[in-house]
Amino acid sequence: MKNKLYIKTYGCQMNEYDSDKMADVMRACGDMTQIDRPEEADIILFNTCSIREKAEEKVFSDLGRARALKQGNPDLLIGVGGCVASQEGEAIIRRAPYVDVVFGPQTLHRLPQLIAARRASGRPQVDISFPEIEKFDHLPAARATHGTAFVSIMEGCSKYCSFCVVPYTRGEEVSRPFVDVMREVDELTAQGVGEITLLGQNVNAYRGETEDGDTVDLAFLLQAIATRPLVQRLRYTTSHPREMSQRLIDVYATTPKLAAHLHLPVQSGSDRVLAAMKRGYTVLEYKSVVRKLRAARPDISITSDFIIGFPGETEADFEATMKLIDEVGFDVSFSFTFSPRPGTPAAEMADDTSPETKLARLHRLQARINELEQAYSARMVGSVQRVVVENVSRKDAGEMAGRTDNNRIVNFAGSPGMLGRFVEVRINAVSGHTLRGEALHP
Ligand code: SAM
Ligand code: F3S
Repeated sequence: MKNKLYIKTYGCQMNEYDSDKMADVMRACGDMTQIDRPEEADIILFNTCSIREKAEEKVFSDLGRARALKQGNPDLLIGVGGCVASQEGEAIIRRAPYVDVVFGPQTLHRLPQLIAARRASGRPQVDISFPEIEKFDHLPAARATHGTAFVSIMEGCSKYCSFCVVPYTRGEEVSRPFVDVMREVDELTAQGVGEITLLGQNVNAYRGETEDGDTVDLAFLLQAIATRPLVQRLRYTTSHPREMSQRLIDVYATTPKLAAHLHLPVQSGSDRVLAAMKRGYTVLEYKSVVRKLRAARPDISITSDFIIGFPGETEADFEATMKLIDEVGFDVSFSFTFSPRPGTPAAEMADDTSPETKLARLHRLQARINELEQAYSARMVGSVQRVVVENVSRKDAGEMAGRTDNNRIVNFAGSPGMLGRFVEVRINAVSGHTLRGEALHP
């Protein structure tokens, strides 16, 4: 029986979500068990990321290891999905002829057919088409595995920032119909999920169709989900600063179930660089969004993404980014040096900043963000937080991990019966990126 499945996920939360769906699809068509060790697998799937060069290189070195396993087990089936697959297609088979199936983020629901076709024909199969939102109509019902869950509400991106491959690998923005999203939320909460995170590359570009043929936006969707009694807390990620409408900002004032946290990637604090990145907003506009958000929800924590060393970034541009960090007071954020991606306009731009200078800037920025994060966490010590219980610790069933409103993980003593529920936790200590606390009414 060929039933042991190993999936390796690279990259973002969208890929994490897609990997869960791959496992669901495979399980739905046979008796599959997902395992943690590729050495024992009958099927190995790589869900790849191409956002930066490093992530892409990693896939090919891991593929080399899978090849060695196949030499010992010729029946081993190797599949490559995700954004590298979408970008490279047939070229993956040319570079790694031992790969059996190549599929894109929008064709993962066709995996069983692709695998069957591979076995029947003896030839590798490639399907990296974009059949729009068809994927969601062919996925098994959502299965809850934790006290929190992701629900994908839109796919792709139509913003075409000059540095980014996502519009090419995942296609343009397509929203899931409103009723489909609501159904998935209801299925998950009925299984004990307390916190829902709406997921997409630019969730605030959501334009979902209703059964009456109307179109609704993210603000409407959030309010509709918040009316469901079983939903305890709601989040969404990622959002684009250009689409933070006043309607959406107002939801922070009217809807307490919406978490006091927003991931709002800014990328740079220099207008010149933002324009070259084609982000579609200025620093002033970004700060104005933050000001309105804080007016609606004074305790909101804002986290962000930064690209350091974009082509032409000067010392003054970088200083402008550092200034913005202090002005906004960003919490936990992600930052990377610019990685030229083939086929994107920024890859062709003249770039005369040395890698050493870029790295020095990156380290300076990360040190400052880290200080802000630690100060934020330190201020939480002694406070009582409403925590949605997400997971039982792998090592100790008496240890729970939950998430605070501002998206920090807290570990505390508890019981698995708390999963998906709100618990009041007093924060006692900070340890790196996580917090330690005690449940007040266990
Ligand atoms: N939708 C999000 C937004 O509004 O910006 C971004 C999604 S992107 C998958 C995640 C992050 O990867 C970006 O915010 C950016 O900071 C980073 N990123 C994307 N392309 C990059 C590149 N070529 N080099 C370095 N970082 C990159
Ligand atoms: Fe990429 Fe910009 Fe879209 S960073 S995902 S093209 S908003």
